[in-house]
Amino acid sequence: MSDKLIIYYSRSGENYSNGDIVNLEVGNCEIVAKYIQEITNADIFKVETLKDYPLDYMETTEVAKKELNDNYRPELKKELDNIDAYSTVYIVSPNWWGTLPMAMFTQLEKLNFDSVNVKTIITHEGSALGESMKDISKLCKNANIFNGLAIHGSEVEQSLNKVKEYVNKQG
Ligand SMILES: Cc1cc2nc3c(=O)[nH]c(=O)nc-3n(C[C@H](O)[C@H](O)[C@H](O)COP(=O)(O)O)c2cc1C
Repeated sequence: MSDKLIIYYSRSGENYSNGDIVNLEVGNCEIVAKYIQEITNADIFKVETLKDYPLDYMETTEVAKKELNDNYRPELKKELDNIDAYSTVYIVSPNWWGTLPMAMFTQLEKLNFDSVNVKTIITHEGSALGESMKDISKLCKNANIFNGLAIHGSEVEQSLNKVKEYVNKQG
């Protein structure tokens, strides 16, 4: 078993990419999460909501906006109870309305991050990290939080080296 864990959220299907609606068979964050796994051999956990978001991209943005405004915690298919076995956690998430999807809040705030190294990769369509690092520092209390890395959705497939560099960075 690895002492590293990847926790990620990724929504495949209709998405916005460089001004167009596209259909992503594999979500951007899933690609990044798999890169980290390839590089580190870390364990991996996908955060999935019990209720699917609409297939339609615009509808999903509306549902997500309401969830954010309501500070809602969507129920998850399954949850991690603890991360006691891990010294490093990689958080991989899309930027939704400037921060993480609320499903990540549901999961992350249940875990004890004391002294855990946290490395974050956010994929986005222009807002980069947004407010996500601020929220991660609230969600992952007492963690050793590294500066996050933002990757544009259109660059995800070519990002293996960038991800490798970030994962291997010491400070
Ligand atoms: C509900 C929703 C809200 C989004 N909000 C933003 C945003 O505020 N800023 C941004 O740059 N991109 C935003 N995006 C685009 C995603 O961050 C981007 O497409 C990301 O790479 C998706 O990752 P995924 O395919 O792993 O889910 C949003 C996408 C969705 C579905």
